[in-house]
Amino acid sequence: MSKIQISPSILAADFLKLQEQVQAAERGGANRFQLDVMDGVFVPNISFGFPLVQAMRRATTKLLEVHLMIVQPERYLDKFADAGADIIIVHQEAVVHLDRAIQQIKQLGKKAGVALNPATPELTLEYIIDQLDLVLIMTVNPGFGGQEFIGYTLKKIRAVRELLDARSRTGFATNCDLEVDGGIELHTIRAAYKAGANVFVAGTAVFECPEGPEAGVKGLIQTAQFLEE
Ligand code: DX5
Repeated sequence: MSKIQISPSILAADFLKLQEQVQAAERGGANRFQLDVMDGVFVPNISFGFPLVQAMRRATTKLLEVHLMIVQPERYLDKFADAGADIIIVHQEAVVHLDRAIQQIKQLGKKAGVALNPATPELTLEYIIDQLDLVLIMTVNPGFGGQEFIGYTLKKIRAVRELLDARSRTGFATNCDLEVDGGIELHTIRAAYKAGANVFVAGTAVFECPEGPEAGVKGLIQTAQFLEE
């Protein structure tokens, strides 16, 4: 399993001082950022689109994950790739032709991820998992930051870790990250790490940390690394 990575979700950032907060999170050890794109249809919230991805591309050289919480994301894959995405994550529940969407992302030269809502079984990934660079397990119902971690998702995290480990023993899915998203803070990151996640999306725990984003990221990394020792 590759090393622990924190992916701050800028949904919780102060957009009036976004670059300052991104740089602080980088100082804390963040080597990627998650951009939560919401359309008000797939999820009951509207966030941002291409302009903010373009702005983030100018604000940081770190890896940008664009998490598309939108219906029919295949309509916009090229535009998010052009805007600066390094990884494009689509929801299994939002895509009728998932294999085709993953191929489209790869043809754009980007890494491909699939997100599963809490109630969606991991078996839906069975025939596509070998083609993925990332599996995102939603540990909250998507649409908002600051929600409580849903405990039953730990079982799915363990199941996907076992699936990935089994595939990698046969030479497949060897570099696929297992990412979790929603309600990740000092206590839940322990449980999620032990269950097998290696990438942790955190919005509130980073950008609403009283000591600032740098301390927020550092605290999460130190907690998870403590478990690694
Ligand atoms: C929820 C979003 C999450 C959120 C992070 O739909 O996908 O990434 O911004 O949530 P918290 O604030 O719980 O870390």
